[in-house]
Amino acid sequence: MGLIEEIAKRRTFGIISHPDAGKTTLTEKLLLFGGAIKEAGAVKSNKIKKGATSDFMEIERQRGISVSTSVLAFIYKDKKINILDTPGHKDFAEDTYRTLTAVDSVIVVVDVAKGVEMQTEKLVEVCRMRNIPIIVFVNKLDREGKDAFDLLDEIEQKLKLRTIPLSFPIGMGLDFKGIYNIWDKKINIFSDENKQTISEGVEFKDINVPELDEMIGSEAAETLREELELVEGAYPSFDKESYLKGELHPVFFGSALNNFGVKELLDCFVDIAPTPQPKQSETRLVDANENKMTGFVFKIHANMDPKHRDRLAFVKIVSGSFKRNTPYLHVKNNKKMKFSSPNAFFAEKKEIVEESFAGDIVGLHDTGNFKIGDTITEGEKLQFKGIPSFSPEFFRYINNADPMKSKQLGKGIDQLMDEGVAQVFVMEMNGRKIIGTVGALQYEVIQYRLEHEYGAKCSYENINVYKACWIEATDIKSEEYKEFKRVKQRYLAKDKSGKLVFLADSAFTLQMTQSKFPSVKLHFISEFETE
Ligand code: G4P
Repeated sequence: MGLIEEIAKRRTFGIISHPDAGKTTLTEKLLLFGGAIKEAGAVKSNKIKKGATSDFMEIERQRGISVSTSVLAFIYKDKKINILDTPGHKDFAEDTYRTLTAVDSVIVVVDVAKGVEMQTEKLVEVCRMRNIPIIVFVNKLDREGKDAFDLLDEIEQKLKLRTIPLSFPIGMGLDFKGIYNIWDKKINIFSDENKQTISEGVEFKDINVPELDEMIGSEAAETLREELELVEGAYPSFDKESYLKGELHPVFFGSALNNFGVKELLDCFVDIAPTPQPKQSETRLVDANENKMTGFVFKIHANMDPKHRDRLAFVKIVSGSFKRNTPYLHVKNNKKMKFSSPNAFFAEKKEIVEESFAGDIVGLHDTGNFKIGDTITEGEKLQFKGIPSFSPEFFRYINNADPMKSKQLGKGIDQLMDEGVAQVFVMEMNGRKIIGTVGALQYEVIQYRLEHEYGAKCSYENINVYKACWIEATDIKSEEYKEFKRVKQRYLAKDKSGKLVFLADSAFTLQMTQSKFPSVKLHFISEFETE
């Protein structure tokens, strides 16, 4: 098979949800339908268990699992499906944001009873910013939950998605009878007997036939007819182009736990989901079908064995094909590198492969050369855009607690930051380091890993910071900018890549600063479009 055909087969996506909505269950069922696993329970949940004995031990457990579930791949209807795992726990949101730079589309799981939850709102916002095509799966229809139309409204309002239901539930909870698949005009009946089997469904091109009443009862049939009429009247008809542009979002209903509605989702997904998309670099747009290989690192995983400091860098191949034992250019380091054992991912295992294609993820063993966002090419000096950092939520000074080990501490902090565990800011005034994280849990992880992997000890000290803001100055020579830097000297720091950051201590300060220095723009995100 040629390069273009191989690439056209790839569908690379992520599943996002608020914890407990059913992401792990859905992932597993997709693998089950794809024939990649034989039984339920094979995919381990990577979420932080409630009431875990110790947070960092739980994190270690989670790290172990997340290597094996980072990428789950299988073939379905001749398509190569790559599911990229995204941690559900909010303390790992940054990890999820980065993974979203490597997907071509996403499936959002929403719990029918809980509706749209906070974590989902945040993640979908990131997807919307990038116009990533989104499909919504409303889960747990076997339970009592919100009315389907109310939920669709909620999704439109809270997630700001223009929805179009492609399946519709017939009842819910105890009265849950099944699903009408608007996409291919079929009904699937939910019953205790077929809970764990995959039914093909019965075709109903015309829902006005009496057979429908016989099948689900007159009352349910009448309600379904009315509801479908409403759907037809109130929602636009499905248009693949609008979905691919991120302007229209299909919604499916089902119950992942009961294998229900999942096949409909998957069948539609392989039909409509995007093939590997072009990606913007600092110099040009790179198309997936280009002959030459390009790719970028979106995730780094430290080895579980603290004695060997080798890491696995996850590279999304953007164009061409990646071949084993072939020299590639690490653009930032201007260094040629060859990989004798690139890992490809299949179901829950990884194996060494000769060749992977645009859309695929390869895992490269690394001894410390890679940082998140690094680009590799066949020689072109090209840097992919778009792995931004977001302002952390928590900030603490990090101090050296063992003066004999300051070198180890420095190295440890550097490497953990390369991995993307947290962000470091160095104060302009005195060179002190501040660690910024998305969740409080990361401080424990960092302390634990510094000690166990680098033999260094650290302590933290509180600092009052509300948000880190990346600075965009319209004119760095202006008096206003100079004045800003002079007045705010004590609050300025550099991030890991040397960008200047303003650490605002409150929302009020931020507002005041912005109105006092209007030509100095403050951003909560490290990459922004300059005006
Ligand atoms: P997550 O990865 O999004 O955090 O969610 P996960 O799949 O782990 O599912 C969270 C809980 O919801 C699990 O129950 C799971 O069994 C349940 N669940 C998933 N899909 C459905 C569904 O369609 N219907 C119903 N009724 N429940 C569903 P748990 O008790 O927290 O965990 P477990 O002990 O079952 O693993």
